[in-house]
Amino acid sequence: MVYLYTQTGQLREVTEALTTPLAERGWDVRWVDAQPRLAFPFPWPTRRFFGVFPASVDPKALVELVEPTGGFETGPDELAILAYQVWYLAPSLPIRSLLKAHPEAFRDRRVVSVIACRNMWYSAAIEVCWLLRSAGARSVEVVAATDTRPQAITFVTTLRWLLAGKREPFLRFGRAGVGADELERVTGVGRRIAESQHCSQDAAPIVPTLAAADILAGKAFRRWGAIVRSAGRFGAVAQAASLVTFVIGLAIGIAVGLPVIACAAVAGGTRFNAGVGAYVHRRISFGEAAADQAVAGRLR
Ligand SMILES: Cc1cc2nc3c(=O)[nH]c(=O)nc-3n(C[C@H](O)[C@H](O)[C@H](O)COP(=O)(O)O)c2cc1C
Repeated sequence: MVYLYTQTGQLREVTEALTTPLAERGWDVRWVDAQPRLAFPFPWPTRRFFGVFPASVDPKALVELVEPTGGFETGPDELAILAYQVWYLAPSLPIRSLLKAHPEAFRDRRVVSVIACRNMWYSAAIEVCWLLRSAGARSVEVVAATDTRPQAITFVTTLRWLLAGKREPFLRFGRAGVGADELERVTGVGRRIAESQHCSQDAAPIVPTLAAADILAGKAFRRWGAIVRSAGRFGAVAQAASLVTFVIGLAIGIAVGLPVIACAAVAGGTRFNAGVGAYVHRRISFGEAAADQAVAGRLR
């Protein structure tokens, strides 16, 4: 059973790349949409895009989902595939809502989670792993597909895509989002699941500098989200001011924080990479297969 929420269809494309080898092997792949009762807009009006930040980073914030015919429950022997995107370093609101409001979908199930996002998925995967553990899942493995082009390029192309709905290449910038190379890699992971029931070692390549930045920023985002939420009590102006400060802080954080972490990575060498890799593996997955994946884990 595949649980999915996608706005542009990118996540469906990535998940289909994973499940095609399973369907070819005769697996019965069923899809269930985690559709919010009040749809999120796409493309996002700028204020709405930044306005969803405080709820996105609030572990308690939920949205109401449309109940699918047949409910959310999986059959006892079914593999549950949970496909999600990242909103502000956290799982998107519809997916957090599915995990918290419908734990029955994952209770006592093996879960493969599939992430498609720009490139910062680590804090979100940590939250999802914790939620799946709380839901009573038996094991969790992670497949991650990202936009692998340089950080500065994807920053521009992703914002243009999300705020203007324009995904196609322009000037010297390429097409926004997950590319064909990643789809091919994910299909390879799907073949491995079809053969052995488990993900391959390259299912979620870890980029240590990005992972370290993501985990530090993820903690800061949660604190800042709480500040914006409590500023709301003093009126709309106070809330807007705290949001604007967040946006400015975000830009400074990206410009200054990432180079600082990159320097730490150079100074720390292989110890930095191995330490970050082990930390991430421990927090994003659990169960027997996940342990094998962690031992053999490959750092990109
Ligand atoms: C509000 C919002 C916040 C986002 N934040 C992140 C983020 O923190 N990290 C990231 O890698 N991608 C981020 N993205 C990109 C999404 O993860 C995803 O790639 C994109 O929205 C397309 O997904 P979909 O069409 O399958 O829903 C964000 C997108 C939105 C709409």
